[in-house]
Amino acid sequence: MAVERTLSIIKPDATGRNITGRINTQFEDAGLRIIAQKRLRLTREQAEAFYAVHSERSFYGDLCEYMSSGPVVAQVLEGENAVALHREIMGATNPANAADGTIRKQFGLNVQENSVHGSDSPENAAQEIKFFFGDRDIVG
Ligand code: CMP
Repeated sequence: MAVERTLSIIKPDATGRNITGRINTQFEDAGLRIIAQKRLRLTREQAEAFYAVHSERSFYGDLCEYMSSGPVVAQVLEGENAVALHREIMGATNPANAADGTIRKQFGLNVQENSVHGSDSPENAAQEIKFFFGDRDIVG
């Protein structure tokens, strides 16, 4: 399996409950390395740009409002098969459908406030990483 990088975002519901460290522990325990990380607050415009792929979806406005409502922690995770592994650890988008032990099952509140975001393919990961980080911000 190839070593990959993926973009992870710890969302406002999780930063608000001060569980950033507990989520990071789960990534590290699974073998993912946090090779870049920063806490920031997205503007509404930045959230709209990041989630532009969902712009036709009914939840787009609410999603962008929510993602700009408080701090997020953006991070680059690296490891074997990182994109799929990260998605496995996160669990299903809707916490109600997420498997036991996953982050969204443990911490997610609902389909919107689901604590974490992860890239869905290596190609999208490369784009999403560029949205938040320059080459010099990433130390593998
Ligand atoms: P995320 O992985 O960040 O990608 C898009 C986000 O839209 C998703 O997680 C959810 O937080 C949010 N969302 C809100 N409503 C829905 C919905 N009905 N279906 C899918 N995603 C939703």
